[in-house]
Amino acid sequence: MSGMFITLEGPDGCGKSTQINPLADYLRSKGRMVFTTREPGGTEISDQVRQIIMAMKNTSMHPRTELLLFLSARAQLVEEVIRPRLAAGEVIISDRYADSTLAYQGYGHGVDLDVIRRLLDFATGGLKPDLTLLLDVNADEGLRRRQSCGGEWNRLDAYQLEFHRRVQVGYHKLAALEPERWVTIDASQPSEMVQLLIRQVVDDRVV
Ligand code: TYD
Repeated sequence: MSGMFITLEGPDGCGKSTQINPLADYLRSKGRMVFTTREPGGTEISDQVRQIIMAMKNTSMHPRTELLLFLSARAQLVEEVIRPRLAAGEVIISDRYADSTLAYQGYGHGVDLDVIRRLLDFATGGLKPDLTLLLDVNADEGLRRRQSCGGEWNRLDAYQLEFHRRVQVGYHKLAALEPERWVTIDASQPSEMVQLLIRQVVDDRVV
């Protein structure tokens, strides 16, 4: 079987992390070898970079610095984990990938999108997902969920609501640009329903 690279994207609080393990289990039950990962992070080196990105004390971090850190974490993850496993025929499911950089640093912070695209190409060696699931939820609702579920609250969560709204609009634009790769799912529904919809999409594309 050939490898397949699936990414989950969406605004903060869209519920990606809840969906990823049940999806992985589902694909395993269909006989696929599945590996899950998340960004930023996923290797020892990338996790160290994640600490720098997230640290509340790093409030003076410039968006360009942040961009390059995300890309460095990703370059390591692609080389160390994603490419070798895809070559071995596994299904890789990643909680965020390159589209997060376009949505957050590009649409959110206003870093030039063409520049980001060139840098992404360099950092990933041109590796693109086969399928990207956009778990779509309003920025306001996402932030509310994020605050009420009591998870880790980091430097990036503290950005203003307007920023998160730009990110959500950015995701819609990215999905519209490549409709064959993206599938948008309304993530304001109960999580069991979201999982069912995800499985339907994956049934069509993977198994
Ligand atoms: P995380 O705690 O993993 O949250 P989430 O569950 O929302 O994924 O934090 C990741 C944060 O990093 C999230 O706010 C999105 C942001 N991010 C970027 O800004 N650019 C990127 O390239 C990536 C991968 C993430």
